[in-house]
Amino acid sequence: RILILDFGSQFTQLIARRVREAHVYCEIHPHSMSLTDIQNWEPQGIILSGGPSSVHDQDAPMVDPGIFVLGLPILGICYGLQLMAHVLGGKVAKAEHREYGRAHLQIHDALGPLLPFKSSEDTEEVWMSHGDRIEKMPDGFRVLASSTNSPLAAIGDPIRHFYGVQFHLEVVHTPRGAEMLTAFVRGVCACNGQWTMHSYVESAIASIRAQVGKGKVIAALSGGVDSAVAAVLIHRAIGDQLTCIFVDNGLLRFGESEKVQTVFRNYFQIPLQAIDARQRFLDVLAQVTDPEKKRKAIGNLFIEIFEEEAKKVEGADFLAQGTLYPDVIESVSFKGPSATIKSHHNVGGLPERMHLKLVEPLRELFKDEVRELGRELGMPEEVIRRQPFPGPGLAIRCLGAIDAQRLEVLRRADRIVMEEVREAGLYDRLWQAFAVLLPVRSVGVMGDARTYDETIALRAVESSDGMTADWAHLPYDVLGRISTRIINEVAGINRVVYDISSKPPATIEWE
Ligand code: XMP
Repeated sequence: RILILDFGSQFTQLIARRVREAHVYCEIHPHSMSLTDIQNWEPQGIILSGGPSSVHDQDAPMVDPGIFVLGLPILGICYGLQLMAHVLGGKVAKAEHREYGRAHLQIHDALGPLLPFKSSEDTEEVWMSHGDRIEKMPDGFRVLASSTNSPLAAIGDPIRHFYGVQFHLEVVHTPRGAEMLTAFVRGVCACNGQWTMHSYVESAIASIRAQVGKGKVIAALSGGVDSAVAAVLIHRAIGDQLTCIFVDNGLLRFGESEKVQTVFRNYFQIPLQAIDARQRFLDVLAQVTDPEKKRKAIGNLFIEIFEEEAKKVEGADFLAQGTLYPDVIESVSFKGPSATIKSHHNVGGLPERMHLKLVEPLRELFKDEVRELGRELGMPEEVIRRQPFPGPGLAIRCLGAIDAQRLEVLRRADRIVMEEVREAGLYDRLWQAFAVLLPVRSVGVMGDARTYDETIALRAVESSDGMTADWAHLPYDVLGRISTRIINEVAGINRVVYDISSKPPATIEWE
């Protein structure tokens, strides 16, 4: 297994994903992890992430230098490379120009064992994002590759198995980056690559049983993949010691509330308590237009309702949560100052208030691994491949004040988007596709009459993790069909526009 020490890069999670994709188990820990803890964790290799700092900063994040004498292979990425060079006696300086974006590597040497390059004439496309750069290598290192702005873009010490790259091999913009990481963890670190979902199911069931014993667990189903997979896994482990609660907030897409209930009751025969809370959500949302206030109102009411229902389950000891690894990292890892962009809807406050212990069988997994786990558990593809859907649901896609009627308009437009996207075979290729209802009225003409109606914005994005996204280049005929159908079939809409902004600087959801 591989230990990733985090220096606050926005890409650290991607490093972990790439390592897992090579079927090697890894975890991300803060850079401040003590040497003893590192040794006790027994890594076969260490990766030092990138980060926003400079090694010359007053309070530059450090690592215990003792890691360099453990005899373990180490890979430094960007700041991780600079730190390694700095600690081992090299020299790091400010580059004249910040290097950002695509760069072409000139391979000096076969990139060591990171990638068995053919010859030194080869170039390789990589993605750079750095200010500082290495000016002098520490003793024992040699240069493996360079770019125009970074003469020492990749360096290595083949005796100690220390490697460092200035570029980001964890991002998709470095096409052969995943290969390089695989070569490091499987080749240099000699990890055997046996981390699979099949083995995970067995061990997860055993650990749920060990944790819960004869206790009772309650789980909240949202309609999303994570809570569904968690519930099915827990049910497999402890059967009817599990009670599933589904709060219908009226903010789901067309037909989804029914779908959740059918899948659980009929397909898995897992008992489900469905609570119709549609009116209560409408009540708290009436007149709320501010996006953050909407999110908070929905989160708070959800907690309130769930608490009421959970109290009816006598002697519950545990609360199941579909917490994923990215959430775990967010809360334990190194965090620089970062602004709250959106408060995410979760049940974070619940366990403390209810004095329940947590069962979180997915807390070591990434989203794509959860899907794989769902498959392993025999869940329908329809559930597993469902596009992500935000906790606050249609409320944050219904801009302005929400009422039952506007929600219905949005739901009907969104249904058409879904149907056409599926029909065109695009559903799985898109990270998300949906409709947004704008409180913007414009003039139109229908038949011979003037209309003055609201607007639907279409949003369709491609992304691998939701952290960055590109607007999808949907075919014009698909856009055309969606537009025609919405305007013809959904009363109250006379104009459809397409959102062509990427994230950043926009976000995926409009609120
Ligand atoms: P943004 O809008 O921040 O969204 O670019 C990134 C991804 O997160 C989803 N999202 C949420 N998911 N609870 C969730 O579970 C939320 O409150 C929430 N807000 C946004 C969004 O759909 C996209 O996939």
